[in-house]
Formats: sequence, C-alpha cells, structure tokens
Amino acid sequence: MIGGKLLHGGDYNPEQWLEYPEILEEDIRLMKEAHVNCVTLGVFSWAVLEPEEGTYNFGWMEEIIDRLGAEGIQVVLATPSGAMPHWLTAKYPEVMQVQPDGTKNLPGKRHNFCYTSPVMRAKTRALDHELSARMGRKENVILWHISNELGGNFGDSSCHCEQCQESFRGWLKERYGTLDALNHAYWGRFWSHAYSGWDQIHSPAPHGEWTMTGLTLDWRRFVTEQMRSFCRMEIETVRRNSALPVTTNFMEFFKGLDYQKMRDDLDVISWDSYPFWHERKDEVPTAVLAAANHNVMRSLKKKPFLLMESVPSAVNWRKHNPVKRPGMHMLSSMQAVAHGSDSVQYFQWRKGRGAYEKFHGAVLGHKNGSGTRTFREVSEVGARLEGVSELLDGTVNMPKAAIIFDWENWWAVEDTTGPRLDTDYVASVVSHYRAFWEAGIDTDIIGMEDSLEGYRLVAAPLNYMYREGYAERVRSFVGNGGIYVTTCFSGMVGESDLCFIGRHPLEDVLGIIQEEIDAPGEEFTNSFSYGGKEYPVGELREVIRAKEGTDIHAVYREDYVAGLPVVTEHRFGEGAAWYLAADTGRCFLKDFYRDRFREAGMNNSLDIELPYGVTVAERSADDGRRIVFVMNFKGEPVKLEGIGRWTDAETGESYEGTLDLEGFSCLLLRGNAEID
Ligand code: GAL
Repeated sequence: MIGGKLLHGGDYNPEQWLEYPEILEEDIRLMKEAHVNCVTLGVFSWAVLEPEEGTYNFGWMEEIIDRLGAEGIQVVLATPSGAMPHWLTAKYPEVMQVQPDGTKNLPGKRHNFCYTSPVMRAKTRALDHELSARMGRKENVILWHISNELGGNFGDSSCHCEQCQESFRGWLKERYGTLDALNHAYWGRFWSHAYSGWDQIHSPAPHGEWTMTGLTLDWRRFVTEQMRSFCRMEIETVRRNSALPVTTNFMEFFKGLDYQKMRDDLDVISWDSYPFWHERKDEVPTAVLAAANHNVMRSLKKKPFLLMESVPSAVNWRKHNPVKRPGMHMLSSMQAVAHGSDSVQYFQWRKGRGAYEKFHGAVLGHKNGSGTRTFREVSEVGARLEGVSELLDGTVNMPKAAIIFDWENWWAVEDTTGPRLDTDYVASVVSHYRAFWEAGIDTDIIGMEDSLEGYRLVAAPLNYMYREGYAERVRSFVGNGGIYVTTCFSGMVGESDLCFIGRHPLEDVLGIIQEEIDAPGEEFTNSFSYGGKEYPVGELREVIRAKEGTDIHAVYREDYVAGLPVVTEHRFGEGAAWYLAADTGRCFLKDFYRDRFREAGMNNSLDIELPYGVTVAERSADDGRRIVFVMNFKGEPVKLEGIGRWTDAETGESYEGTLDLEGFSCLLLRGNAEID
C-alpha cells in the first residue's frame, strides 16, 4: 500500500480552470470534505506545460502541487504524452500515426502518436526531463503515471508509417535471423507468399496481406514491443531525476497490447475500470466481468494494484449511460478493493465545461457543488477507505485456483480462420471464471508464461496456442497433484501459429486423441448428461477418442457423434486432467466446477453455498489477518444461511448462523478465531 493507506481521489485537471481561482479554491476545500487523499495531475496538460516548443510553464502546476501538499493530499504525476499539442503536430507531422490502409491521421484526438517516431520520442523525453526535474522530488508526489491508456485510440492504434515498417523488419530480422526461418514460421510457400527480401515485408493491412496469421501475430508482438520501448524511454527519463515508482494505466481486456509483457517495466499495476452497471436488471454478468478484470490486473504482479480511474456516476460514451443506482458506487468500489486494489480513483474530480467529456460523470458536476448524491456517495467511499486502510495494509489475495488468460493466445485464436470466425476468447475465459465467482472461489488469471506452482486447480479454456515451456509446466503441475481443466481447440499450434503434427503436446497428460472439430449451425443441437443432469452443447464440438485409462464422464447424445466423449478425466501422476471436448454453457460449468472444487478441497471463505448474486473474496496477511469481503450484487436484500461465527471488521458486530446483506452492499468480516 503506498504510504500505508488506501488512495482515494482521481484525475484532477485544474489546467482547464486556471481562469477560475474560486473554482480551484473550492476544489481543495471539497476534496477534504470528500476524504480525497490523492489526485492524478497533468495527464493531458502538455499544451499548458509547454505552450511552445522548448518554452516551459510549470508555475501553475507547482503551485497546485504545493497547495495540495499543504492539505495532506498526495499527487500521482502523469507524463503528458497521451495528447499532443498542435504546435508539435504542425511542425513535425511525422509524429502522427498512419492507419493500416496508409491514411495519415490528422491532428486532434489523443493516444494517436507514432511510438516509433524519433521526433515524438525526443519531444516527449525533453518535457519528461523538465517535468521530473522540477516536480519529481516534491514530498507529496508519490508515483509516476506514464502517459495515458497506451494504445487506446478508440480501437486499434498501431501505427503503420514507414518508420514503423522499417523497425518491424528490423525486429523480424532479430527474431528469425534468416528469411528461410521466417518463411517456414509463416508457412510462406502457401499461396506463394514466401518473401525473398526483407523489404518486401509490410504490416498486415485490409488492402494487403491480412491472411498470413504468423505475420499478424508477429505484428501484434512488435506493436507491444514498440510501445514498451516508448514507455521505457519515458520511465528511464523520469527516473533520472526521481526515485519514485512508476505505473501506466491499463484498460479493460485491451487486445492491442500484451500487458503480460509490459508488467516487468512497471513498479505498480494500475487500470481504469468502467463496468456497464445497470446494463440489465441482472448485474451478475457485469460484476463477473469487472471481477475478472481486477484479477487479471492483480495477477500481473501477484500484488495489489491501483484502480486508477472509475466513474462515480455515469460515463458518456455508451449508447445507454445509466447513473449508478444508490449503493452501487460503494459496492463497485469495495469490489475493486476486495479483488486487490489499494485505491479507488475517479475520472474525474470535476466535470469540464466544454468539449468531449463535459457530460462524463465526475465527483463534482456543473452545478450544486457538494450538494449531490454523487458527492455524498463518493465521500462515504472515502470515509470507509480511511477506516479500513490499517486493516488492509499488507494484505493480498492468495487464491488457490488460476485461470489461464494469455494475450498471445488471444491474438492467435481469434485471428485464425476456422473452426469458426467469431471465436470470442475473452467470453470463453469469463464464462469459466463465472463459475468460480458464483462459488466465491477467488482465482488468479495468469498468462501461459506464469508459474503454476501453488495452485490446486488450473483452468485453461480455448488454450489454442502453446507457448514455449507451457506443456512441460502443465505436465509437472498435474504430475504433482494439480487438477487441470482444458477445453476443445487447445494445444493446436506453437508460437508462430504452425500446427503441432503427430500428436497433441499433452496427449499423455490429457489421455485423449483429438480427431476433428465440428462447428455446425444452431439447428444442429446436441446435448450430454453429466451428474444426472442434461446440458446442451454449444457450436464448437470436438470429436475425441479417450485413450486407455481415461474415464469418460459424459458423451454426446445425438447425431453421428452419439456416444463419443464430451467430458473426460485422466489421472496423471498425483493429479488429474479434465478435457471438455465441446463448448459448454454456464449451467454446466457451474455444476462441473463445483465438483472440481470439492475434489481440490476448496471452498469459499464462508464455507457455504452462496445465493445468486452474492460472492466473496478474501485479502489476508502473513500476520494471520483475514478480511473477507461479502458482496451482494442484487439490488435487494439477501440472507446468507449457515455461516459460522464472524465479526464485522468495521463495526465490531457479531454474526452467527445468518448474515443479512442489503441490496448492492458489501460487508467486511473477520473470522472470530483470529480476533479472540
Ligand atoms: C479513460 C481515459 C480518461 C477518460 C475516461 C472517460 O479511458 O483515460 O482520460 O477519457 O476514459 O471514461
């Protein structure tokens, strides 16, 4: 926890209000009232900090940092490369991105710089140097926030300019050494696509080469590497003047950059969470998706992360933008903390008067100052975080289960053609995660390069591409007693999307032989029964054979595959490997994993079956502290039955046997053994 406390505050953009001194005065006063102890400054302030090339204007920022410091408010300081000033794009047009179809972007918007451009790097470096030299040692500045949502420009923001093409070719030369090796990796003789010169290689484009999946995969890897090197350049620059830790704010399941590759450059992981609460009456799918995202972030370093942005009311960029219903702001904020966040920060402190985000929710609106429900609810969150800071200091989630979610696999499985064209990897991972969430079993969500040690259960849905060393890690995980669950269309290709030939790399562990994969239309229904219940199969169905010694727990009931296995189990070493040959629905996954949890000796912290909409997560510390978060995502009260003896960690109230939860609420409990 930075400075031993949970952070509460958010993006503060006072440069928009420099002509309104009374507003700036009111800001500081109301921040105190709202229990704000940390703001993020400078995210988009390049044009104010450097109004002309080489002319710096830091006075206003210094004054504000000092005023905040005098009030005990800490500052996360951003480098402002997220949005470029007009003087820069006018004088150096090469800093603008080029789209895949060759169109050069015009100035404006944000997050749209060419991350290869030496000019962009030089100009960013110069400003970062000045900024860190002037502000990097201020007592209340606690963290560097590098740029903003790298790569996030309303979708794909890779740059296809000539400089990027050249760098890409250089990167490929390093990776493959020879064109022969590259052509083999891309299976280039197919359609006569083999290259005979490095300069023939061009990034994937809709009007050019988009059919060679190996190339597309490498382009995606290159984009991450190039962005990483831009980010590292910024980190190195600020580090020369300041010893503060660094972060950059990540986004929700963002496909454009491999965060598992970027984590090592950062001291702290942070991300911006904007779940679509009240999209429907049933909040569970939204809660599950938000929880999964928090777990991805926490698992990047297996440490608490920071919730860098969230909205206290409604966003302005969806078709429907519901405001958070009473209770939801507290609940969603506590959800982040329950899953490992050491902060609740907002975008933004005060709504601007004009431009694109003037109707985006903020702590302060255009009218009524602190006299709003939003302000009251934000203040309640701030007060609550203050109250539980000490309790949570040094605590971390320590799950015994993990789900594999790997960026490179994501790219590969969705770029490949067949067996379907609409494969949704995130949806598949989240559908498995939902079974864990509903049972209250906390999970890490880790990449294929991560260690599997310490987990009892690992699930790997749609694990299409096996990264280097992955099969060996799974083999020893299961051999040493782990329970491993994987699905159809797993273990198909290696790192350059070349299919494995001969046999599945984990055939010995899984105990099955893959024969073919069927992706029929929806009229071709099929089903299977498991544990006495019948379940439908989805539209992806593998035909497999069970090897000798493999138990078949369910078979297809219809069609030409009737009688062939859908669910198998193979004991290997001390553990077991389960194979789900077909796409299966939510009801099956819930029942299936309930059995696996039992086998793995896992239950949730309350040791009860949870009612729909309720989940639990636990943060604990080496000193024996265990804080259990019990969350109700239903908008109505729920009673939990069968709980042991617990004490409310905040009020000291005791509960035994039953626990009443209000609609949209979260309680923090401590086990009695530990407080006695
Ligand atoms: C984030 C971004 C913020 C703000 C916010 C609005 O993605 O970092 O600057 O635009 O979205 O929801």
